[in-house]
Amino acid sequence: MEYKQRTVTCGQLRKSDDGKPVVLNGWVHRDRNHGGIHFINLRDRYGITQVVVGENAPKDVVDVADQLHMEYCIAVEGIVHARPDSMVNPDMPTGEIEVEVVGMQILSACEPVPFLIDEDSDAKEETRLRYRYLDLRSTNMQKRIKLRHDFVRAIREFLSERDFYEIETPTLIRSTPEGARDFLVPSRIYPGKFYALPQSPQLLKQILMVSGFDKYFQIARCYRDEDARGDRQLEFTQLDMEMSFVKRDDVLLVMEQLFGHVFKKTMDVQLPEHFTRLSWHDAMNTYGVDKPDLRYDLPLVDVDDLARESSFATFKSVLETGGCVKAVKAPASTSVAFSRKYISELEDAAKIYGAKGLAWIKVGAAGALEGGVSKFFGGLEASLVERMGAKEGDMILFVADQWKKTCNSLGAVRIKLAKDLALIDPKAFAFSWIIDFPLFEFNEDRGHWEAAHHMFSMPQAQYLDTLEDDPGSVKGDLYDLVLNGYEVASGSIRIHDVELQKRIFRICNIPDAEAEERFGFLLNAFRYGPPPHGGIAPGIDRMVMIMAGQTSIKEVIAFPKNTAAISPMDDSPSYVDQNQLDDLHLIIKQPDKNA
Ligand code: AMO
Ligand code: AMP
Repeated sequence: MEYKQRTVTCGQLRKSDDGKPVVLNGWVHRDRNHGGIHFINLRDRYGITQVVVGENAPKDVVDVADQLHMEYCIAVEGIVHARPDSMVNPDMPTGEIEVEVVGMQILSACEPVPFLIDEDSDAKEETRLRYRYLDLRSTNMQKRIKLRHDFVRAIREFLSERDFYEIETPTLIRSTPEGARDFLVPSRIYPGKFYALPQSPQLLKQILMVSGFDKYFQIARCYRDEDARGDRQLEFTQLDMEMSFVKRDDVLLVMEQLFGHVFKKTMDVQLPEHFTRLSWHDAMNTYGVDKPDLRYDLPLVDVDDLARESSFATFKSVLETGGCVKAVKAPASTSVAFSRKYISELEDAAKIYGAKGLAWIKVGAAGALEGGVSKFFGGLEASLVERMGAKEGDMILFVADQWKKTCNSLGAVRIKLAKDLALIDPKAFAFSWIIDFPLFEFNEDRGHWEAAHHMFSMPQAQYLDTLEDDPGSVKGDLYDLVLNGYEVASGSIRIHDVELQKRIFRICNIPDAEAEERFGFLLNAFRYGPPPHGGIAPGIDRMVMIMAGQTSIKEVIAFPKNTAAISPMDDSPSYVDQNQLDDLHLIIKQPDKNA
């Protein structure tokens, strides 16, 4: 089809272009017809330009304009006119001009749209994903996809300048599950054998260090067969990195500099030179989670001593059985009343994490304690108020239980309070490092220890001699980067010694023979002079989601799956032909309906 190609984009024209002949290509965003005059907002990736089919337009142009509908793709030939001052639209970058149409051609028609582009607030997610090509036309999606592009570009720029090589690793690899379930790809050539899609390039990047590449990165696609949630997808993207001859602080510093560069470049946000560091224990103890949102404080406060002196039997018996009592302060609020109903909402949040209740006390005039369990704190009013830094109108909330349950439950209350009482600055970016993680956690279902992160992380030196004696006490050379309450990156200094690696496998219930069978290629590589090395992998989807002020990574992925693990646009996963199954030597076992 012959058509007039654009000479300018829809975001380009200004007053200084007055009188210029131009051609625009784009989509009909809106078409208002006022008494036979068409005011058409023509849209492309760059912006919107108002084009006008006026009273004096040629008849063939009017005929075409009369056929237009929403989202038709058209070519427009016209003359730029500066608008009189009174007609300038300050909300549009092109609001100083309009284009008088002298020629118009429909490039392609559009069926009635299921939702209006840029007014999709009530379009259901299912509809947005089914018609993703239309959803992606919206200004917001276009902006977010651009942010993602800028983000990745700034990463490549920074790391390339610092001598990192970008190296691709295969997406068909040996199955070496890292924690989640693997996605498997059956081999046609070798019946019964499978490739796996990588959960991350973890072992390959370590082997690249053995190969002497020294500094590696990759924008790597990762695949994990797990439930999709707000911040999780079956396939997602990591900035995967690894470096040789580094210690923990070298890795943390590179990341601080990297994100300093990237935030400045993509959002003009100046991050602090260094990020707050918290040990895993302090993060849990003070904020109740290992990914604390530090945009607000609201610390959990230890009140064991006061609880012991109180006359509240519940608290005392928890303390006697080795538990603890912690409290958090709900600051007085003008928008939220601390009613019974609200307190029971807070209690529900605590109970999700196993708390047996949520005790409360209100602070009245002159530090008097009122309501709830206040009657048990007679004589302790001043101490409690001082400990909590409380003032009139505040409420104090308590959980008593074993340490971890107390932290988790009250941590959930802290998060809910911050949201409900509007204590969060939505524009802030609060980064923190969580360090000194436990290396192992006990899997009650399987009855053995497992790696808390993955099995390739180095134990801290002081635990090396006694790993097997008390795996639960071993701290690893692990670190997580947390941003606004999300874990955005995770990494560690790695083991590079065959014997130590085998000890870790054994603690995780993988005997030597099985380790050689599953991880022999890594162990073999480690027999050929591996350098000390370490690395990290920030999740790109999560980072961009937070930068874009979103709460679902679907908002920053062009073609995501829904929470049912389905892509409504192409309806994957789908059945395949019997021939394809035969080629792959597969027989489908239908799920037992009675099971
Ligand atoms: P980990 O499994 O902690 O570490 O993943 C690192 C980061 O990847 C992101 N992420 C996800 N994003 C979206 N959907 C998911 N399902 C998902 N899972 C993880 C998170 C997370 O912090 N190989 C190690 C890293 C290393 O040790 O270097 C790894 O993959 O932001
Ligand atoms: P009870 O004495 O069971 O009536 O509880 C009095 C208050 O203490 C209620 O608000 C309960 O929610 C709360 N409560 C009960 N058990 C606990 C606990 N383990 N930790 C904190 N609060 C609790």
